[in-house]
Amino acid sequence: MLSLNTLPSSLVALVLAASPLASAFYLPGITPTNYKEGDLVPLTVNHITPSQTGTVGDGTHQRTRSVFAFDYYHPAFHFCQPEGGAQDISESLGSILFGDRIQTSPFELRMGVNETGCRAVCDEVQFEPRDAKFVNRRIWQGYGVNWLIDGLPAGSRWIDPSTESEFYMPVFALGRTDEEKAYLNNHYNIYIDYHQVRQDQYRIVGIEVRPESLGESRRTGTGDDYSATCGNVGTALSLDDKVTTSVTWTYSVFWQPSPTSFATRWDKYLHVFDPKIHWFSLINSAVIVSFLVGMVSSVLVRTLRRDIKRYNRLDQLGLDDLGDTSVNAEDGVVEDSGWKLVHGDVFRPPRYSLALSVLAGNGAQLLTMAAATIIFAVIGFLSPSNRGSLATVMILLYTLFGFIGGYASSRIYKSFNGSKWKHLFLLTPSALPALVFGIFFLLNLFVWARGSSGAVPFTTMLVVVGIWFLISVPLSLIGSWLGFKQPQPDPPVRTNQIPRQIPPAQGYLRLIPSMLLVGVLPFGAIFVELYFIMNSLWSNRIYYMFGFLFLSFALLVVTSAAVTILMVYFLLCAENYHWQWRAFATSGASAIYVFVYSLVYWARMLSFSSFSGGVLYLGYSALLSFLWFVMSGTIGFFACWVFVQRIYGSLKID
Ligand SMILES: *[C@@H]1O[C@H](CO)[C@@H](O)[C@H](O)[C@H]1NC(C)=O
Repeated sequence: MLSLNTLPSSLVALVLAASPLASAFYLPGITPTNYKEGDLVPLTVNHITPSQTGTVGDGTHQRTRSVFAFDYYHPAFHFCQPEGGAQDISESLGSILFGDRIQTSPFELRMGVNETGCRAVCDEVQFEPRDAKFVNRRIWQGYGVNWLIDGLPAGSRWIDPSTESEFYMPVFALGRTDEEKAYLNNHYNIYIDYHQVRQDQYRIVGIEVRPESLGESRRTGTGDDYSATCGNVGTALSLDDKVTTSVTWTYSVFWQPSPTSFATRWDKYLHVFDPKIHWFSLINSAVIVSFLVGMVSSVLVRTLRRDIKRYNRLDQLGLDDLGDTSVNAEDGVVEDSGWKLVHGDVFRPPRYSLALSVLAGNGAQLLTMAAATIIFAVIGFLSPSNRGSLATVMILLYTLFGFIGGYASSRIYKSFNGSKWKHLFLLTPSALPALVFGIFFLLNLFVWARGSSGAVPFTTMLVVVGIWFLISVPLSLIGSWLGFKQPQPDPPVRTNQIPRQIPPAQGYLRLIPSMLLVGVLPFGAIFVELYFIMNSLWSNRIYYMFGFLFLSFALLVVTSAAVTILMVYFLLCAENYHWQWRAFATSGASAIYVFVYSLVYWARMLSFSSFSGGVLYLGYSALLSFLWFVMSGTIGFFACWVFVQRIYGSLKID
């Protein structure tokens, strides 16, 4: 746990120290900024997000109640703007897509200079009843404020009840509530930890904001003098939803020297909840899964060896005609069943071979993207301090791996004897992205209609479409072309003219039962990790446990492949040679469980107070589950592809 915890930041530090190029690169949030005493330290503001900053009676975390984030300068909040209006800070593409909207603020923080009194941010502001209602509702829903100072989020201090250890949430509360009223936090006590590196060289290593609700604060100065008097802690500020309430925003700043070094400043944000349970369940599922896979594959390999030996011996005796009668060979009666029977049909192209090729090509693209992203993350390149880097890298890799998608889909289509090549060339790079983009666009309309800042700006959408069209599509076309130019692969056995009759499927070999059966194992191997991923998606937690993720991903691949191969073996033994779609569908079926799990997560961890919140959650969950289906289906499809080639390749058939 400990090594995983500090691994990314120490690795980054190591790479930076070892590389002479370090100064040539500027990695935001990773390259330290040195300040002199009295230097102005900019405080930037991000959005107002639903969070779990509130607590319910027994100290457990409050449920997340909404999915809509709001712009910091949404007019209803009446936060003070800097003179001349707030400026946007440029961000990475991934950061924008994941909702960051970073802007400048009027706060004046000077390195090492305490502001122990009260300082007003701007003139008194007036909350109309309508705005008061809006803000009170946000407080009831537990919204939190996101600030960044020197790339570090302003946090609030928390105690993990299970381990009694302290950590920072990267957000602090907009307000608090008691039985009947909501109170707005209008005063911020900003505690900044700094670390001295040299004479008069300081770095920022920690930020905590302890907000307060002070009803009687007033600005006393005028003009450039922003002094103020802070009210009593006893009289909290509650916004009246009948008459206009005037509010003064104030803050104090305390600089505290700290021994924390710059390289480890993120560690207190990256808190592992229940690390023991996490390790325990992951190792648990790893052991069970490897045991199962090992057992199954050894049995399967042994059975297959025996089968192949027997088939080939019978073949030598000239008793090829296993299908119709039981034959008396030397070793007794041979049942008239077995996977050899379908050798004349097993390489018959499936129905809808175009669709399957397109899906598997896209799945290969997703799979390689996911694998490469996780590997990058494990090495430590995607530290959370580099905001949005995870999403940016994912988009970049997905775009580049369009090549792999195109190549895979056209190789598959070639082996299916496909003829509609134009369709394949066009559909591979466009079908799935268009579907995803269409759904994303529709969901974005919901977000936009709520006036939420989470809506992806139109220009960003254009950029995404541009990248897809200008880079991904050409790469995919090149890949498809190369795949198309490859010679037609020779199947190990010839396909008969007339398709064989398939006996009706029974029991678990029917489509739906086989999907449910096969899907549950890969899901079982990774569902612990899924919980943490969901938490970071919906509950404001930073996800960084990439070591765990890497293990889970490996488990997912191995389990999906093994269980699907087993299912296809049984299918072929039952003389059903329609294995291609079946392999894809059964292996992808873990997506069904992922979707059901997201519903369970909703029921247990979230309670949306609006209809559109639920729609958005369902929409994104369905979209992610679908992508999951395509990705994990591809694992099973390729695994069975290799499996079928191998076992029929080892038969001696003239
Ligand atoms: C600023 O305030 C902090 C916290 O109260 C204190 O530890 C520190 O010594 C103060 N610094 C100065 C320069 O007064």
